[in-house]
Amino acid sequence: MSNIVTAFAPSNIALIKYWGKQDRYLKTPTFNSLSVTLKDLNTITEVSFSCCNQFILNNQEQDFKIIEDFVSLFNINDFIKIQTVNNFPTAAGLASSASGYCALGLALNQLSNLKLHKQQLSTFIRKGSGSACRSLFGPFVIWKKGNDDNSYSFLYPYYIPMKAIVVICDNNSKKISSREMMNIVQNDVDIYETWLNMTKQHYFSMLAAIKDQDFDSIGTIAIDNAHLMHNSVISIDSKLSYFNNKTLAVIDFTKFLRNKYRLFYTIDAGPNVVIFVTDKDFNKVLNEVKTLNLDYIVSSLSNGGYVFD
Ligand code: DP6
Repeated sequence: MSNIVTAFAPSNIALIKYWGKQDRYLKTPTFNSLSVTLKDLNTITEVSFSCCNQFILNNQEQDFKIIEDFVSLFNINDFIKIQTVNNFPTAAGLASSASGYCALGLALNQLSNLKLHKQQLSTFIRKGSGSACRSLFGPFVIWKKGNDDNSYSFLYPYYIPMKAIVVICDNNSKKISSREMMNIVQNDVDIYETWLNMTKQHYFSMLAAIKDQDFDSIGTIAIDNAHLMHNSVISIDSKLSYFNNKTLAVIDFTKFLRNKYRLFYTIDAGPNVVIFVTDKDFNKVLNEVKTLNLDYIVSSLSNGGYVFD
């Protein structure tokens, strides 16, 4: 048994969003979600046995309590040191907790010698942060609803040659976390029911569109589902909106580009816009995005997280 384990996990962005829990402790979702895994926004985590518990995130010591419950799932009786590095802005709606919990779960699975297979491991990782379970696989991943062991993630085995351009509209941490915001929305029965009914339709249409390699329909559904989620927030109170002026400008710009190129966008619980573009149109679209004078991150698709040998 190795005493130092290093794991890599990509982030993922949902095309059909997870937005609400059936069980808040187990983090089982109210409905299925579907995401794309992004290789170039990632986390690398090293875990080792140590003389005391330590959690170092991006070179800064953190309170171990943040991840104590998650670590305890793996039945490790010794002290451990966790060193983790994200290569992209933490907590800005770019799924840093997704790649973070996925990398930590992969590493702890090996260190503890539990040797869970990926589907079972996904139910552990889900308890750290729901969307993190989707980073185990890729590029297209489904996380299904269900009771604990039945709420796992798995590969949706189709491929579309495309890349992502993440346009950074704000680098700072979000004011209200997605966890908190989905609870707020879920507490409003009418607004939540609208979200849930529509997202069910989007989900099944999305499965068919991906299977048919119908890029244009994938794009339309993803855009609709992203706005459905953001509208659920704005319907509670417009002041809660995650969008800023740059977000709105990038949305308009991307909609305009859709007349010329094959692309679409989605936005998680934050201000940044993720543009997906076919490999064929990628260079031209990147040149257009550069004219916005905003920071951006380019990512190719990933097959999901793994442990280094
Ligand atoms: C908007 O997975 O961060 O990104 O399970 O409470 O940790 P917890 O929530 P989290 O929520 C992600 C919400 C989302 C949509 C998505 O990724 O599907």
